[in-house]
Amino acid sequence: MTADELAAIHARAMVVPPAWSAVTIEGFLDAPGAILATTEAGFALGRVAADEAELLTLAVSPDARRQGQARRCLEELERMAREKGALRLFLEVAATNDPARALYVGAGFGEAGVRKRYYRGTAGEAIDAIVMSKTLLPA
Ligand SMILES: CC(C)(COP(=O)(O)OP(=O)(O)OC[C@H]1O[C@@H](n2cnc3c(N)ncnc32)[C@H](O)[C@@H]1OP(=O)(O)O)[C@@H](O)C(=O)NCCC(=O)NCCS
Repeated sequence: MTADELAAIHARAMVVPPAWSAVTIEGFLDAPGAILATTEAGFALGRVAADEAELLTLAVSPDARRQGQARRCLEELERMAREKGALRLFLEVAATNDPARALYVGAGFGEAGVRKRYYRGTAGEAIDAIVMSKTLLPA
């Protein structure tokens, strides 16, 4: 998938935090340690540094949800992260994002902390970020 195609999915999917442009996505893809897992209508973008990986974003088009695409992206991203030597995967999710939090708990992530007032909601309100992490088993 090209950066433009990824940005089109992001534009359809994201609310909080807001969607990224193709240029922003390309910047992450070109950075050292970048990992990208895609499905027909979704993608997960992350990066690995030393033995830690971070999920930077995960998005599935609204018309393709609840088909397991996010779960598949996440599994593939975890596999890629392990291959690059990561032992743990971290992510941040808006406290108000119940679908994503349910996905992550189901995928074995546990809460590791809270970043207070980390995001802005659509009405400008402050929203906490929940930091979650998961131990990656050796590849
Ligand atoms: C969160 C998101 C990526 C989930 O994508 P998806 O492809 O619909 O998720 P999946 O079909 O793989 O769902 C896997 C599991 O996650 C949970 N889940 C997903 N969507 C859910 C919802 N709306 N309500 C409750 N649980 C949900 C369920 O446990 C689900 O398993 P099940 O369908 O067997 O019950 C998607 O809703 C999205 O793009 N949201 C906007 C962007 C976003 O919030 N990204 C995450 C930022 S951290």
